[in-house]
Amino acid sequence: MRLPLLRTFAALLLPTALWAQAIPLAEYAARRDSLAARIDSGVVVAFGTRSPVGFARPAQLPAFRYLTGFLEPDAAFVMVVGGEKSGGTLFTEARDPRRALYDGFPPDSSTIARQVGLTARSLPALVPMLDSLAATGLPFYALRDFETSDYASQDSLTRGASFMRSFSARHRELEWRDAHPILDSLRTRKSPAELALLRRAIAITVEGLEEAMRAIRPGMWEYEVEALLQAAFRRTGGDGAAFVSIIGSGPNSTQYHYHANNRRMLAGETVVMDVGAGYGGYAADVTRTVPVSGRFTPEQRAVYQIVRQAQAAAERTVKPGSSYAAWRDSARMVVARGVARLGLTEGVDATFDPPWAEQCSANPVACTQSFLYMAHGLGHGIGLEVHDRPHPWYGTGTFTVGDVFTTEPGIYISTRLLDILPDTPKNRAMIAKVRRNVERYQNVGIRIEDDYVVTRTGLEWLSQAPRELVEVEAEMARRPRPAASR
Ligand code: GLY
Ligand code: MN
Ligand code: MN
Repeated sequence: MRLPLLRTFAALLLPTALWAQAIPLAEYAARRDSLAARIDSGVVVAFGTRSPVGFARPAQLPAFRYLTGFLEPDAAFVMVVGGEKSGGTLFTEARDPRRALYDGFPPDSSTIARQVGLTARSLPALVPMLDSLAATGLPFYALRDFETSDYASQDSLTRGASFMRSFSARHRELEWRDAHPILDSLRTRKSPAELALLRRAIAITVEGLEEAMRAIRPGMWEYEVEALLQAAFRRTGGDGAAFVSIIGSGPNSTQYHYHANNRRMLAGETVVMDVGAGYGGYAADVTRTVPVSGRFTPEQRAVYQIVRQAQAAAERTVKPGSSYAAWRDSARMVVARGVARLGLTEGVDATFDPPWAEQCSANPVACTQSFLYMAHGLGHGIGLEVHDRPHPWYGTGTFTVGDVFTTEPGIYISTRLLDILPDTPKNRAMIAKVRRNVERYQNVGIRIEDDYVVTRTGLEWLSQAPRELVEVEAEMARRPRPAASR
C-alpha cells in the first residue's frame, strides 16, 4: 500500500521534463531502417525547417523530426538505400559568428553525432553529393518541407521544393518519388516512447482545461482563457500550444476553427475551448465546451446531451478490428436524430440543397440537413501533428491496437447557416419549417473532443477532463467566489 503513495510523491518532486521518456536514439535509427526497408533502393532527400524570418521560435517539421530527431533549423538529410548500408547524413548550415550571438552557436559535428547519432557535414557539400548520386540512376525519394500535412498541397514555395525543382532542371533524367506516404504509414504506429509523450501532452491539456473551468466567469475575455492555458502548457515543461487555441464564446462558438480569441464572454453563453499542449513535439487535442456563467441553459443542455451521446455512441463501437464507418456513422446518426428532435431539420433523413452540392455524389451525407449543423469529420489521428496523417484507419477501414485518435462530434447553431443556403424551392421549404427553432438555439455551439488509444480489449480514454454536464458544472462550481462588494 505504501509504495504507490511513495511513487506518487516522487512523481510530484521529479522535474516534469523527466516525467515522460524522450524518444531513444535507437528508435530514430529503427525508423530510418524501416524507411530504408520499404524503399529497397534509392536516395532519400529531406529538408528541415528554416530559420524563422522574425522572432518566432523555430519548430522542426514533423517528418524531419521523426526521421532525424534534429531540432535545429536549416538542415537537410540524405540517406542512400541499397548497396552499402547508409545510416544517413545530416547537412547543416554554418552560422555567421555575429548571427550566432543572436541565435546561438549551432552544434558541431561531434555534438550532433552524440545527440542524434548521425554523421554531419556542412550544407555546401549537399549539391556535389546529390550530383554524384544522381549519376547512379537511383530514384530520389523526397520528403518535402511543408509545415503541416493539411496544407501540403498549398505549401509549394518551400526551400526544399525550390531546391528539388532546380536540381531536377539540371538532372532531367532523375526520377523523383514522394517519400511521405511511406513515412506517414510508419508514423501511424506509435511506439511506447511516443505514447508516453502523447500521454504527457494530454495530461497537461486536461490540467489546463480544469483550471480554465475553475477560472471562467462572465466578463472575462477569450484571450484570458487562452493565456491561462498557455501558462499551463509551458510551466509543466510542455512545448506550449501545439496549435492555435480555439477559445470561442457566443457566436464564435459556432465557428469550428475560430482563433482571434478577442471577445468578452457574457453570462448565458457557452465557450468552446479546443486546445492541445505539445510535449516533446507530440500534440494533444481536447475540446471542452462550458457555460460562461457556470450553469448551462435548457437549450445548451439539450444540445450538449446530444453531442455527448453522439460521442459515447462512437466510443462504444471501437475495439481492435472494428470498423471506422461504424464509429463515424454511429455519432452522425445520434446527431441527425437529435437535431431533428429539436426541430432544426425536417427529419432524420431530410435532404437539402447545400452550398457544397458537388460533394454529395461522393459523400451523400453532405446533402442531409443534419450535416449543416456538423459539417466536419468525427476525428483524426494525433501524433507529431495535431492532424496526424493518414488517419490510423486509412487503408484498412478498421481500428488497430495502438491507434491514437480523437472523437469530436459537435453541433453548431446559427441563423447564418440558413443565410448561406442557395435560394432553391427545397431550401425555402426547409427554412420556413426550421427558422424559428434555429433562432431559439441561436449561437449555441457545442463540441466535445477526446483522445483515445485502442487497446487489446477496447478503448482507453486518455483525456479525462470533466465531460458530463454535471461534472462540468461541478468543476465550475469550485471557482473562488468573487469578493463581496463593500
Ligand atoms: N483542434 C483542431 C481539431 O480538433 O481538429
Ligand atoms: Mn481540436
Ligand atoms: Mn481534433
